[in-house]
Amino acid sequence: MSKEERAKGRRNFLKLMLAAGFAATVAAGASVFRFLAYIPPSASASGTGQLTWPRVKITNAASLQLLKPVRFNYPLINTPNLLVKLGAHAENGVGPDLDIVAYSTICQHLGCFFGFQPPDTSPPCNSSIKTSTAEGYCCCHGGEYDFTRGAKVIGGPPARPVPAVKLEYDQTT
Ligand code: FES
Repeated sequence: MSKEERAKGRRNFLKLMLAAGFAATVAAGASVFRFLAYIPPSASASGTGQLTWPRVKITNAASLQLLKPVRFNYPLINTPNLLVKLGAHAENGVGPDLDIVAYSTICQHLGCFFGFQPPDTSPPCNSSIKTSTAEGYCCCHGGEYDFTRGAKVIGGPPARPVPAVKLEYDQTT
C-alpha cells in the first residue's frame, strides 16, 4: 500500500469516527448503558432519510468504579473508546450524577490511541506534567482532552475534541 493510500485510509477512518460521534446520543437510566443509534444498511431503509446506529450494552452502571475507565470498541471492532465515571457533573454526562461519559480514544491530531488520566496524575509518558482535570492524554504529541467539558482540547496540537459516544442509561434492566 502506497503512502498516499495509507494517508487516505487514515482520513477516511477519522471521518468515520467523527460520523460515529455525531450520530451517537446520550440518555439516562439506572443500571445498564447502551448506545442509542447506529448507521443502518442504508438511509432509505428507515424511510426517514436518517441513519441510525445499533444499540449495544457496554456495562452495568453499578460495576463502575470512580475514575476507572471501561474500554470498549464501537462502532467497529477495532475503534476504541472509553467510558468513565468522573464523580462530578460533566458535559455529555449520564446517570444519576450526570458524571458518566464516553469518548473515542483516537486522537484527532494524527490518530494515535490515547489513555485516560485522572486529575492530579502524570501520564506514563510524561512525568513532568500533572493533570488538572480528568482528561484524555495523548503520548504522541501531548494532546489533552478535558473529559469534564465535552473533551475540549486543553493542550497540545489537536484541532478539535474527540467524538463523544452517546449513551443511554437504562434503568429498566
Ligand atoms: Fe495525539 Fe499528536 S497524535 S497529539
